Amino acid sequence: MITAQGLKKTFRSRRGSVEAVRGVDLSVEAGGIVGFLGPNGAGKTTTLRMLTTLLEPTEGTATVAGFDLRANPVGVRRSIGYVSQAGGSAPEALVGEELEYHARFYGLSRGDARRRSQDLLPQLDLAGLDTRQVKTLSGGQRRRLDIAMGLVHSPGLVFLDEPTTGLDPQSRANMWEHIRRLRNNNGTTVFLTTHYLEEADALCDRIFVIDAGLIVASGTADELKQQVSGDLVQVEVASGTEGDIDKARGIAAGRPGAEQLTVDGAVVSFRVSRGDEAVVGLLRDLDAAGIALSSLQVQRPTLDDVFLALTGHALRDGSE
Ligand SMILES: Nc1ncnc2c1ncn2[C@@H]1O[C@H](COP(=O)(O)OP(=O)(O)O)[C@@H](O)[C@H]1O
Ligand SMILES: [Mg+2]
Repeated sequence: MITAQGLKKTFRSRRGSVEAVRGVDLSVEAGGIVGFLGPNGAGKTTTLRMLTTLLEPTEGTATVAGFDLRANPVGVRRSIGYVSQAGGSAPEALVGEELEYHARFYGLSRGDARRRSQDLLPQLDLAGLDTRQVKTLSGGQRRRLDIAMGLVHSPGLVFLDEPTTGLDPQSRANMWEHIRRLRNNNGTTVFLTTHYLEEADALCDRIFVIDAGLIVASGTADELKQQVSGDLVQVEVASGTEGDIDKARGIAAGRPGAEQLTVDGAVVSFRVSRGDEAVVGLLRDLDAAGIALSSLQVQRPTLDDVFLALTGHALRDGSE
């Protein structure tokens, strides 16, 4: 659906130049929700603008929805939907008119534009709002109208730039459901940007992590988590005696692939790539040695751990 090689964008001005995107390679299959995750200023919007033909790359090539970005930008535009970070609906316009107008822009006849709008409004929980002015909508409704506008021409691929930024938690969860429905019911490929770790984790089938204009990792959320650090396994020795703790420590150290073994009081901890598998043998061996536990925990790494490990700095979740 999307392939890109060496996409770069340098903005030049009198005051100097900014290397917003320093070399992005992508390969995205059709179907599914793809997330572009990175902090503010990472180059997400700039990459999206290049992939949607709105901005000419300084270097590099890409094929989007079967069309070459440079050779056939019109082909690309016809085949994709794009919803910008700011949104595109005029505040004074009426909801239904705005949507139909947008459909007409994509070449739908007056009748088809009306039918398509009447289909889309209820799909995005906007039924009955046709005659309302855009400026009277709530933040969530307005964002859903933006998305409807990106879908009027039924594209197989839609780009959403920060679809949930600024929404309250309930509207965000609601937006996630709508995005999932696009994938599940219509088979649409969704490429979205986000700076919310929990959004990438919960919503995206595949994630590209971008930082300072470069992609630093990609994969499913689980793959990314396994790539940087394993699961954390922690056992607490019930007796708390030095002898038992020492034995437990030895048994933990004997798990295949165990790393970062530490003892804190009666708690023995280590990391291992598959914690769920490691505990099976661990419990068996502890039991055979006659060591009782008062607690056992297996923790998956979070995307926070991943981002920190990859970039050396935290991606703040910016929960506004
Ligand atoms: N038109 C522009 N002129 C100069 N610098 C820009 C322009 N657009 C973006 N930038 C800079 O490029 C970098 C990446 O911006 P952007 O792609 O908007 O990041 P993101 O969407 O990940 O927050 C930032 O440092 C930003 O200030
Ligand atoms: Mg942006």
